[in-house]
Amino acid sequence: MLLAGRDGARLAGELATALPDLRTRTVTHGPLSAEDAAWADSYTGFSVPPNLADSSVRWFHLPMAGVDRVIEELTGHDVVLTRTVGGMPAAIGSYVLAHLLADAWHLREYAAQQLAARWEPLPSPRVAGRTVVVLGTGEIGSGVAEALRGAGFRVVGVNTRGTPAAAFADVVALPDVGPRLASCAALVNALPLTDGTRGLLDATLLERLDGAVVVNVGRGASLVLDDLRAALDAGRVRRAVLDVHETEPLPAEDWRWTHPQVTVTPHVSGPTEPEDVVEAIVAARAALAVGRTPRHAVDIGRGY
Ligand code: GLV
Repeated sequence: MLLAGRDGARLAGELATALPDLRTRTVTHGPLSAEDAAWADSYTGFSVPPNLADSSVRWFHLPMAGVDRVIEELTGHDVVLTRTVGGMPAAIGSYVLAHLLADAWHLREYAAQQLAARWEPLPSPRVAGRTVVVLGTGEIGSGVAEALRGAGFRVVGVNTRGTPAAAFADVVALPDVGPRLASCAALVNALPLTDGTRGLLDATLLERLDGAVVVNVGRGASLVLDDLRAALDAGRVRRAVLDVHETEPLPAEDWRWTHPQVTVTPHVSGPTEPEDVVEAIVAARAALAVGRTPRHAVDIGRGY
């Protein structure tokens, strides 16, 4: 297996313990040398070498969860693509919960009050029964649902066909989500970026909200920024919590940094830990060895 990038050497060390029979070489991102291209049957890295199609690599492992940055280059290639999920659903779940509870408990307002030595109790934060709509019922969406459910939120999931998913009180199909939006306390985007989800959170959807918090932990390009801004101005969206952005790092002059109703974080809600990558490689390799589809194999044609 070729291990690309600055974490390659560390990963090689950890894989030597976890999979003593796996031979690895560390390489830099970019084109493969003719020798490496002929030697390797698998590759782990964040981008697709331009000459991958001319190599012996038949398994590409991505050390992160979202596959949008490699899917196009892998389309049409005879490779299995696997990804790393690990502790991400729970981490993203706790990120979303932290922000929704901070909002419910008025933590920003109390921080401002404290600076002014002002004693002013605000309405009590009863979250039990508040509805949160989560776009995406995969592992990340389910991690969000589980975290929120534990705090008493009622979580409605949204997927393409309304297919039930265990973590959710209810699941609706995307075309039927409209009526749920008017009464939800928050809308969370946990969708992968595909042709179908690019620009999905647009005016049509945001205008149906009535003072909800919007949280984006999926991909920045799913949110139409001008529409978000208009929805904030119109009060349809009360606060936007944005961990992912269409351009990262977010440029210093971007309006989101200073907008009073926007919380920006630097793409931190779903970290990939090194042990997650090792575990993902071990599990995928075991499945491939017996001809099974790995649990975290990606349907390249579908895009996630
Ligand atoms: C992070 O955004 C990831 O896709 O792993």
